[in-house]
Amino acid sequence: MPDTLTITDNRTDKKYEIPIEHDTIRALDLRQIKVKDDDFGLMAYDPAFMNTASVKSRITYIDGDRGILRYRGYPIEQLAEHSTSFMEVAYLLLKGELPTHAQREEWRNTIRHHTFVHENVKKLMEGFRYDAHPMGMFISTIAALSTFYPEAKNIFDAGVRQRQINRLIAKVPTIAAFSYRHSKGMPYVYPDNALTYAGNFLNMMFQMGGAKYDPHPALEHALTVLFILHADHEQNCSANAMRGVGSSYVDPYSACAAAAAALWGPLHGGANEAVLRMLDEIDDKKNIPGFIKEVKDGKGRLMGFGHRVYKNYDPRAKVIKKLAYEVFEVTGKNPKLDIALELERIALEDEYFVKRKLYPNVDFYSGLIYQAMGFPMDFFPVLFAIPRTVGWLAQWEEHILDSEQKIARPRQIYLGHQERQWVPIDKRK
Ligand code: CMC
Repeated sequence: MPDTLTITDNRTDKKYEIPIEHDTIRALDLRQIKVKDDDFGLMAYDPAFMNTASVKSRITYIDGDRGILRYRGYPIEQLAEHSTSFMEVAYLLLKGELPTHAQREEWRNTIRHHTFVHENVKKLMEGFRYDAHPMGMFISTIAALSTFYPEAKNIFDAGVRQRQINRLIAKVPTIAAFSYRHSKGMPYVYPDNALTYAGNFLNMMFQMGGAKYDPHPALEHALTVLFILHADHEQNCSANAMRGVGSSYVDPYSACAAAAAALWGPLHGGANEAVLRMLDEIDDKKNIPGFIKEVKDGKGRLMGFGHRVYKNYDPRAKVIKKLAYEVFEVTGKNPKLDIALELERIALEDEYFVKRKLYPNVDFYSGLIYQAMGFPMDFFPVLFAIPRTVGWLAQWEEHILDSEQKIARPRQIYLGHQERQWVPIDKRK
């Protein structure tokens, strides 16, 4: 059986044989299909990339129908259960293999060397208004890092590239925590490199009055698991932004800022904040049927439900749901949990959601945990951005080293006016 696709162009009766590789045809192979020699040739129209692969990747695998997510081949459930350190998973995503003891220690030490930010970064952050959204501060400060490390533009120097990767992974928790402290009017807490990645972050967030802050082990563990679950998710909107912007060969700080901006939207990483606002609005279990009816009537969406790729339960949501109970043992139950559980139960039985294969996604329960741990709602997207920085960097590096890639530049179908003649202003209608 030949691995080809035969296309007959009914306009010309011509036949074309197009190679199939990895169950995919190359869109450029369609360009030979023309009516006249000087035609541009056939294009594929695919708004929102619903059926277009833009990269060949070896990082993250998703089977949306079966609810499978793997980083470098390892199932997400195994990483969430067995990996005790986020650094280990970061190493796996970036380098392709789980680290040995020695490699993990060296990697941790490298990251620890970079956790502090330049004092000017602190001053820059102090310039934001007292009520600035932490995600706006985060995005802007990440972009500003490029001005501190001008060498970052040398993206094809492996050493330079690795240094920026180290810096970004080390500094994002610091910048994130500073943005929170700023919004609270509290002094910034410097990194404590004796702590774990998650523990240090919690310390920078919640330490008060100089007393040593001991993160509760269960909460530190929960945050580590949440970081692992959020670290990468193949070609999502923000990874696509990272790759697209990075394809212009801009420095990784600028590309990361663009990716973080993409993450902020309510259809992407902003959804966990939107879920809690929705639960607040529902307020009581008795209001759920009315709310569901409104969603079905097209008056809004059930936030934290549905996914472009998963047409099954998001495997991350399963882990998070279980984790929520572990966190609530320490923090006390988030009162919104009962509303969320009932909402899920009703939605999963409702024909509207069943027919459209809408299941809870990663954001449905994560916000409940974050809130119980004391993080304010507008900080949730920042919590998503910290671990996702690792994924963005892995995707970025793979992209710029891929010899098949070029600057990302889609085509369009132009439907506007054909050429028109200039009209002087007093003759315009
Ligand atoms: N509530 C109600 N209806 C929905 C929902 C929802 N959450 N999601 C999709 N639908 C309906 C949609 O109206 C459409 O119905 P119809 O065929 O009658 O027009 C159908 O399901 C298909 O939806 P779509 O908008 O074509 O699907 P998409 O793949 O473009 O969108 C999504 C995926 C995640 C943007 C969407 O499901 C959504 O808006 N969900 C709520 C926001 C959310 O939870 N986002 C977090 C995603 S996971 C984490 C992340 O990526 O950051």
